[in-house]
Amino acid sequence: MEVERVQAIASLSQRMDTIPSEFIRSENEQPAITTVHGTILEVPVIDLGNRDEEKLVQLIRDASQEWGIFQVVNHGIGNDVISNLQKVGKEFFELPQEEKEVYAKPAGAQSMEGYGTKLQKEVEGKKAWVDHLFHNIWPPSAINHYFWPKNPPAYREANEEYAEKLQGVVEKLFKSLSLGLEVEEGELKDAVGGEDLIYLMKINYYPPCPRPDLALGVVPHTDMSTITILVPNEVQGLQVFKDDHWYDVKYIPNALIIHIGDQIEILSNGKYKSVFHRSTVNKEMARMSWPVFLEPPPELEIGPLPKLINEENPPKYKTKKYKDYAYCKLNKLP
Ligand code: SIN
Ligand code: FE2
Repeated sequence: MEVERVQAIASLSQRMDTIPSEFIRSENEQPAITTVHGTILEVPVIDLGNRDEEKLVQLIRDASQEWGIFQVVNHGIGNDVISNLQKVGKEFFELPQEEKEVYAKPAGAQSMEGYGTKLQKEVEGKKAWVDHLFHNIWPPSAINHYFWPKNPPAYREANEEYAEKLQGVVEKLFKSLSLGLEVEEGELKDAVGGEDLIYLMKINYYPPCPRPDLALGVVPHTDMSTITILVPNEVQGLQVFKDDHWYDVKYIPNALIIHIGDQIEILSNGKYKSVFHRSTVNKEMARMSWPVFLEPPPELEIGPLPKLINEENPPKYKTKKYKDYAYCKLNKLP
């Protein structure tokens, strides 16, 4: 079956200055109507290079409790590493359609890996204005190079370098999140698979859209993995739901955007909150983002950390294998 890519639909739409009706959101979702205009939300910005460890723990804890999202600066990943990652990803999406289709996610595959477009329509039969590419980048045993573009030729090296550098950030985040719960520093990382934690790279490609007032990129959701570490391009579009309203998030150049995901909310028994977010699209420019989802191995069971549970604090979440959690969430089951 030939899948219609949003990128192809976008070039047609551009000429007609209109978009197909399945991309037009209902009024309770249209970004023009539902965004608070004139306010750009400043989510907490945290200096990961802070040598005052106690302070760092406190900042990450507070941000994860109150926001579920924050940005980190001084994270130790060079600007060149990030711009190379962005450059090769952009070059891949600018290839002719048939070259990208080589990496198409096989129909019926269990894994998320591959180039694709969300096939399943949403409840109201609507579609999102975005194409994507998924592939694991860490650990080596989880990597399938079949899904890594061979073109541009620098794609592999740029992604390897980013994965390598990302590990230090991941360690720091899990450590601070653990200490913020008053458990041992290695506890959360161990609970999500330790060295078997999978780094899943996703590239979102949001083509220019003639009606950004009516369409959405990614629809409102919380991320289901543990933590998401995201690099955006320069085009505004990430929105966060705060105090019952949608706001654009202010980007700090070269910062990494950290999202708390469902598994951290569960492990913390609700102390940390996964953040409800969505993304919008732009009229003239392609928007892109590179979230890396830190995913537990599929068979691993995750539930509230036993140390956080007692008579006054009963578990607020069920314990489930990660793959079962994912299945229920994707199929909207309890
Ligand atoms: C997402 O949450 O999946 C995408 C967010 C973004 O593109 O900024
Ligand atoms: Fe997300």
